[in-house]
Amino acid sequence: MIMETFPSDVKYVLLWLLCSIMFNSVTCSLKVHCNEKDMHTLLQFKQGVTDPSGFLSSWLTQQHCCHWTGIQCDNITGRVTELNLPCHAGDKDHKSHCLSGELNLSLLQLQFLSYLNLSNNAFKSIQHSPKCVHMSRDTHSHQCTNASNLQVLDLSYNHDILIDNLHWISHLSSLQYINLDGVDLHKETNWLQLVTMLPSLLELHMESCQLENIDPSNQYANFTSLQVLDLADNNFLSDKFPTWLFNRSCDISHIDLSQNQIHGQLSKMLTNIGSWKSLNLSYNALSGPIPNWIGRLEQLQELDLSYNSFTGPIPKSLGNLSSLVVLNLSSNNLNGNLPESLGQLFNLKALSVADNSLTGIVSERNLLSLSKLKHLSLSSPALTFDFDPEWIPPFNLQGMWLGYVGGKLPSWIFTQSSLRVLVITDSTASFEPLDKFWNFATQLEILFLSNNSIGRDMSNVLLTSKIVWLNSNNLRGGLPGISPSVVVLSLGYNSFSGSISPLLCHNMTEKSNLKALYLGNNFLTGELGDCWNNWESLIVVSLGNNSLTGMIPHSMGSLPNLLSLDLNRNNFYGDIPLSLKNCKNLLILDLAYNNFSGGVPRWMGQSLKALQLRSNQFSGNIPPQICQLNSLMVMDFANNTLSGPIPHCLHNTTAMLSDSTTTSTNEISFRVETTVSIFFEIVIPVELLIKGSESLYQDMVYVIDLSSNSLSGTVPLEIFMLTRLQSMNLSHNQLVGTIPEEIGNMKQLECIDLSSNRLWGEIPQSMSALSFLGVLNLSFNNFMGKIPSGTQLQSFTNLSYEGNHQLCGPPLSKFCPKDEEYNNTKSIVEDDDYTSAVHSWFYMGLGIGFAVLDVYPWTSYLTQVFTRATPLHALALSTT
Ligand SMILES: *[C@@H]1O[C@H](CO)[C@@H](O)[C@H](O)[C@H]1NC(C)=O
Ligand SMILES: *[C@@H]1O[C@H](CO)[C@@H](O)[C@H](O)[C@H]1NC(C)=O
Ligand SMILES: *[C@@H]1O[C@H](CO)[C@@H](O)[C@H](O)[C@H]1NC(C)=O
Ligand SMILES: *[C@@H]1O[C@H](CO)[C@@H](O)[C@H](O)[C@H]1NC(C)=O
Ligand SMILES: *[C@@H]1O[C@H](CO)[C@@H](O)[C@H](O)[C@H]1NC(C)=O
Ligand SMILES: *[C@@H]1O[C@H](CO)[C@@H](O)[C@H](O)[C@H]1NC(C)=O
Ligand SMILES: *[C@@H]1O[C@H](CO)[C@@H](O)[C@H](O)[C@H]1NC(C)=O
Ligand SMILES: *[C@@H]1O[C@H](CO)[C@@H](O)[C@H](O)[C@H]1NC(C)=O
Ligand SMILES: *[C@@H]1O[C@H](CO)[C@@H](O)[C@H](O)[C@H]1NC(C)=O
Ligand SMILES: *[C@@H]1O[C@H](CO)[C@@H](O)[C@H](O)[C@H]1NC(C)=O
Repeated sequence: MIMETFPSDVKYVLLWLLCSIMFNSVTCSLKVHCNEKDMHTLLQFKQGVTDPSGFLSSWLTQQHCCHWTGIQCDNITGRVTELNLPCHAGDKDHKSHCLSGELNLSLLQLQFLSYLNLSNNAFKSIQHSPKCVHMSRDTHSHQCTNASNLQVLDLSYNHDILIDNLHWISHLSSLQYINLDGVDLHKETNWLQLVTMLPSLLELHMESCQLENIDPSNQYANFTSLQVLDLADNNFLSDKFPTWLFNRSCDISHIDLSQNQIHGQLSKMLTNIGSWKSLNLSYNALSGPIPNWIGRLEQLQELDLSYNSFTGPIPKSLGNLSSLVVLNLSSNNLNGNLPESLGQLFNLKALSVADNSLTGIVSERNLLSLSKLKHLSLSSPALTFDFDPEWIPPFNLQGMWLGYVGGKLPSWIFTQSSLRVLVITDSTASFEPLDKFWNFATQLEILFLSNNSIGRDMSNVLLTSKIVWLNSNNLRGGLPGISPSVVVLSLGYNSFSGSISPLLCHNMTEKSNLKALYLGNNFLTGELGDCWNNWESLIVVSLGNNSLTGMIPHSMGSLPNLLSLDLNRNNFYGDIPLSLKNCKNLLILDLAYNNFSGGVPRWMGQSLKALQLRSNQFSGNIPPQICQLNSLMVMDFANNTLSGPIPHCLHNTTAMLSDSTTTSTNEISFRVETTVSIFFEIVIPVELLIKGSESLYQDMVYVIDLSSNSLSGTVPLEIFMLTRLQSMNLSHNQLVGTIPEEIGNMKQLECIDLSSNRLWGEIPQSMSALSFLGVLNLSFNNFMGKIPSGTQLQSFTNLSYEGNHQLCGPPLSKFCPKDEEYNNTKSIVEDDDYTSAVHSWFYMGLGIGFAVLDVYPWTSYLTQVFTRATPLHALALSTT
């Protein structure tokens, strides 16, 4: 009653005070009325949104809009101040429950909005009012945006959004924080000018935005208040270090320009900014020396210059940076000694100088005062370790990466009771006393010791680390035991012998976590054993190049997660068991170079990408069911005794068609976490070596190899529709017919081998347009006429054409008879039963084939992955 005489705002204050006393303030604040205009704006936003999980189900007109999910209002005025609807999703492929549809920026009409967070959703497009698009920077159109109070804008990781225009952002003059990570901004070339117009901006995050332009038209960026600038992982192609960023004294303290392609040398301009705390320039192409003046950036806590091309010595002045917590100089071309001054950096937690050309001696003097050190990475071929065997370090490491260690391992390693990650590669050091070492290793979560010369009988060792990576050593004897905690066991390229049964068939007390088992390139014998039911978590089994024998046991089908099974180069025999059908997710099945027999399986799962049956005794026809494998990229049935025709339906294996959505980056990957915030990303790409061109493909290639069988009939026209095919080998069969003009559409072809068949007719002119063609073998057929001119086909030697007596023209020395062309239609074959005279053929003898496929997945690449990205990446991660 009294209240009615008060102006409305005062009334709310009183009401609020009153009930604050009587109830708790939460319930009170909700009593405030929702502003009509705000509610209307929110509902308009909702209209464009697709909301599969019903996050916005509370957004109803009957309800007070300050109660709606994700909305906060001002307790007093009832105006909307916060819109907080991020989506919680693991990765970008699992966002089906998140908000999608259209993000209508009419939201920015919410006059009192100060916080907007829609990160990690799946919005498909962004809609800004047409009025805002072409506004000049001087016009202050209040119709465009009224959200002059907006301080925080987070639209990050809406990966499908392409923002072609950022003009609207320059009007949000109160903005302090912008995060557009992962949003495609490549069309906005003027982004820099627009964000520099924001006078209060403190943090700008534009990581992975596909930005291209970093060269500003003005001489410096007018960031008046900016402190954090994150522009990592864009496409800046700058041949000069972007000095303009630093051409001004300002308060900037954190800058991340990593993973761009910035060239040039470090500029002294960097010293203009006294407030540096973190500088990340890793993964660029910077060169020249690391200058001495870098020691003047006294407040620096993180310096990451790794993965560039810096040369010269490590400046001693780095020892002055007493605040430094992370120093990463790895993977450059630095030379000279490791300065002892670095041993004074008593705040240092992570130090990496690995993978440079450092020389000289590393001793305790280099690490003397590093009492806080947690991660150490030292690995350069010419660096000599010379530690006092009695030395007890002031630090207790969690992760260590050493390489090229000669002599003995530094004995202080055994004092490191917190060590969880140990990487030692390329060393000749003795790991003596071995019992002490393996005992010490039980505390490690990651034990990565590849390419050393550790020799020992391992049969009585129990391995317990999550990742055990002992490839390329001299390990021998029976296989070691593993505990249920092991996730990756890789013992390839050693001299293990005996059976794998003791490893797999012992009594398990707990469920195993093993995901990858790699025992390839050893001397293992015996059968696979029928104990696979104990190992359901396996996704990769790789046992190639041993002397294993027997049939594939039935229990192998009980591996529901299996993605890759590699049994090549052993002595296995028998049929492929039907139980493998249960491995529904299988991507790669490599049985090459064994004695398997029976028919090509008709029941493989749809996901199969590579089926490699080379050099076995498979017989019968190629079943048409093979065409239903619409993800198939590698079909290698070479050197078997298959007969009958090549199925006509091959164009149904749609992955090989050009409009297919199948991606060739066929990575099997997973992450192994540790308790010391280092994770390892295990990437297992399928690599194929095409011998003909001796190139190693990182991505998967598209290959059909049916060579050295007894296939007959015409080459189906459909095979020439597979325009993604990179290698086609049909040699050494009894195929007939001609090469159609359509072969010219197979623009990706790098190898063609049709040798030693009974093909005939002219070589189509269109073949001379196959510009990637590196291997061509048409020998020992009955091709005829002039080899089409154009540089491509003439670049091969006459070996590619020999045994075709009626071929003429370069590169063959035989001249073509002038004015008298061959007529390849009709006349020659009279009694053929082929449908089209254009595709008719006749007979010829033998020739030399070229072997195409040889598959050794993941060994070499994995080491690369490990030595390249992970340990260092992990270092950086672990301290942030
Ligand atoms: C408004 O209410 C919220 C709780 O709903 C409270 O956290 C906040 O401090 C209040 N703000 C003011 C200005 O009282
Ligand atoms: C937005 O929400 C996500 C998820 O809760 C959170 O991680 C992020 O820090 C928020 N952004 C801002 C700027 O608060
Ligand atoms: C976005 O919202 C505005 C209202 O502010 C409306 O006029 C416009 O039609 C909406 N855009 C779309 C595409 O729905
Ligand atoms: C913006 O605010 C002004 C008053 O400050 C008002 O006149 C105008 O209608 C508002 N525009 C929109 C689109 O809400
Ligand atoms: C830099 O920005 C400030 C504040 O926005 C402005 O006053 C000043 O004129 C700008 N300087 C230049 C050269 O654009
Ligand atoms: C730095 O900015 C000034 C203008 O303030 C300009 O004259 C100079 O050329 C700039 N230097 C560089 C290296 O961009
Ligand atoms: C495994 O367990 C079974 C029964 O649980 C037992 O009979 C067998 O002897 C055990 N084998 C080994 C090698 O311990
Ligand atoms: C073909 O397979 C047989 C066994 O099946 C093997 O002996 C021979 O070496 C293989 N040839 C090639 C070229 O791989
Ligand atoms: C090939 O695909 C077509 C249409 O997708 C289908 O009708 C046909 O049965 C398939 N053929 C084979 C052998 O898979
Ligand atoms: C090839 O045959 C076609 C049709 O039979 C004829 O028109 C053409 O003249 C012949 N060419 C030569 C070079 O004999």
